[in-house]
This record gives sequence, structure tokens and C-alpha cells, in this order.
Amino acid sequence: MATILTLAGDGIGPEIMTQAIDVLKAVNEKFSLDLTLESGLIGGVAIDATGEPLPDETLARARAADAVLLGAVGGPKWDAIERSKRPERGLLKIRGELGLFANLRVAKLYPQLANASSIKPEIISGLDLLIVRELTGGIYFGEPRGIRTLENGEQQGYNTMVYSTSEIQRIGKVAFELAKTRAQAAGTAAKVCSVDKANVLEVTELWKQTMIQMQQAEYSDVALSHMYADNACMQLIKDPKQFDVMVTGNMFGDILSDEAAMLTGSIGMLPSASLDESGKGMYEPCHGSAPDIAGQDKANPLATILSVAMMLRYTFKQEDAAQAIEQAVSDVLDDGLRTLDILDSSEAGLKQVGCKEMGQAVLAKLI
Ligand SMILES: NC(=O)c1ccc[n+]([C@@H]2O[C@H](COP(=O)([O-])OP(=O)(O)OC[C@H]3O[C@@H](n4cnc5c(N)ncnc54)[C@H](O)[C@@H]3O)[C@@H](O)[C@H]2O)c1
Repeated sequence: MATILTLAGDGIGPEIMTQAIDVLKAVNEKFSLDLTLESGLIGGVAIDATGEPLPDETLARARAADAVLLGAVGGPKWDAIERSKRPERGLLKIRGELGLFANLRVAKLYPQLANASSIKPEIISGLDLLIVRELTGGIYFGEPRGIRTLENGEQQGYNTMVYSTSEIQRIGKVAFELAKTRAQAAGTAAKVCSVDKANVLEVTELWKQTMIQMQQAEYSDVALSHMYADNACMQLIKDPKQFDVMVTGNMFGDILSDEAAMLTGSIGMLPSASLDESGKGMYEPCHGSAPDIAGQDKANPLATILSVAMMLRYTFKQEDAAQAIEQAVSDVLDDGLRTLDILDSSEAGLKQVGCKEMGQAVLAKLI
């Protein structure tokens, strides 16, 4: 028996989580997965209840669980709170405490939604790429950091970009292994593109050298290429289908994964996973708590439902159950159901639905 801790959070979090839990319960039964669900508090709702964005009890239960499913945190109600106590701090803390160093974001374009993207359909149709971002190191965590006053009285802000060989190796391993798994499933050759700024940053020179050494020593069956981060930004728009797995550090990954997300048109469709060294993970949609539409039954629950599929694939190794969910999502899109964020009003035969109707339509395909 395995345990999943669900953390709905704030804004649209509870609405999308309700739908995702229904789907999870259905596959649990259908595929006899023997999963037990628990729920807990994080973010603004946790602040309201306990004064802390990540209460000790939630952290303890997250540590004990085999996987965590998160909705979203944050909202205007908590924006004025002191920075260290804000909802988003709860998210950063749980990622750090659980050692979730590998962030996986899939940018997959469902053919039914080709018109939702601002990129020409022929450039993005069939797009299915995975960005592997290092999540607990690099410039976002490096020391020293701060704002200091110089001798001349002027202020100076500074951060430090650091990566050790072992940090690069553990994220490199995730990327190479996933490239092999994806290639096997798709019947294609495995390839990884490592993104750096080795022309100007010594830290990424080490990154590049380490990737090359790993490929030569252990992953000669994976084609490895390298690209500077600025060029990678351009290539993602120009010809995104040249990529399969991209691997990069924390800051470049932050930027590239948002760019890749927008290739597909709606952030409401994109799931993500953050994994530790043993494969335990926290799964969540890429979007935030969308306070502008919270409580109105307008949110797209598909990113959270697809996060459940990722959880079954990566933590529980239940590929059949994962694919069943992804197929159910594709089927409801085929049926023409669209939440507002993915509705193309110029297309005939589509039906606008709310969060609940979309979730229940996916559920109906599974039972
Ligand atoms: N992982 C997280 O929990 C996370 C991530 C990003 C932002 N946030 C927080 O969320 C709050 C709002 O941030 P934001 O507005 O910058 O980003 P957001 O992702 O919440 O919303 C951006 C836009 O996308 C829309 N949107 C987002 N998810 C949607 C969905 N599932 N269906 C339909 N439309 C959707 C919203 O309505 C909004 O117009 C802030 O408090 C921010 O700190 C949380």
C-alpha cells in the first residue's frame, strides 16, 4: 500500500484538486493500485489555520507519504504578509525539505488544441518535449547573496551561481535515463540537449564538461548536444520539435520551461513533477492559484489531472494507468469539451464547460 498526500492549497486549488482526486480514485480502483489518499494544508489556507505556510504536521506527512499532489498556493489575501511567511515560502520549503532536485515539465501539444498556440500549427503540431530543470541549487540558492553598501556609499546586489560535480551528475542522470525511457516508448533514438552559457560562465563550463563525461562513460546510447541558453530560447520558438529532452540549471530552466509552456497555448494543460533521488515526487500543475477565476468553476482541471498521470508513471511505475488518464483527456478534447482558457471561439463544434464538467467528463471515460 502506498500513500499520497493531497495539498489543495489556495485559489482554484480546491476546485482542480477535487476533480483530480476523483480521477485518481477511479484509476486506483480500475487498476487495483492500492493507493491511500490523505489531505493536508499548505499555503494561505495553512497560514489562516496555523500561522505557517508549511505547518510541521504537513511536512511530516509529506515526508511519510510516497508522493504529494499539490494544487496551487497564494493569492492577494496573503500578499501583504512578511516575505518569509508568505504562501509561496511553503512551496519552496517543501521542495527543499523533500530534496526535490529534479523538476520535470512536459510541453506536449494535444493536436486538438493546435489553434490555442500563438505559434503556427505546422511548427508545433506533434510537439512533445521534456524540460529537466535542476531545482535546489544554482544561483537561486548560492551563497553569498544579498545587497551590500560599497565604500563609495553605492548599493550593490549580488548572487552566486554554483554547481558541484555531484549536483550536475544527479540531474544529468535523470535527463539521460528519461531520454532512454521516452525513446523506448516512442520507438525513436534517445537524445538530450544540455543548455548552458559555457562561453561566459565557468560554472556552466563545468556543467558542460560533466555532461560530456557522463555521456562518454555511461550513456553512449544517448545523443548529447549542447546549446547556449540564449540560442535555446530562440530555437524553442523557431523549431521546438528538434528537442526531446532538454536539461539545464535552475535559472535557465525557470525561463525555458515557461517559454516551452506557452508553446502549447494554455498553462491550464501543463503538468509537472519534482523528484528526489529515490523517485519520490511532488506533482503539480505548472500554473498558479489563478485568484481572478477562483470559486467560479472556470478553471481548467486538466493540468492537475495530467499531473496524476505523471505521478503514476514516475513514482508508481504504473504506465498503463498513466496512459489511461492521458487517453481520457485526449478523448474529452476530441469530444469538443473546452474550458474557457483553451476555447477557440472561431472553431465550430466546441462546447464550453466549467471545471467540474471537464473533470467529470474525464472521469466518465475512465469508468
Ligand atoms: N505553484 C504555485 O502554486 C504557483 C505558481 C505560480 C504562481 N503562484 C501564485 O498564484 C497567484 C497568481 O499568480 P499569477 O496570476 O501570476 O499566475 P496564475 O498561473 O495563477 O494565473 C495566470 C493566468 O492564467 C490563468 N490560469 C491559471 N491557471 C489556470 C487554469 N487551470 N485554468 C484556466 N486559467 C488558468 C489565470 O486565470 C490567470 O489569468 C500568486 O499568488 C502567485 O504567487 C503559485
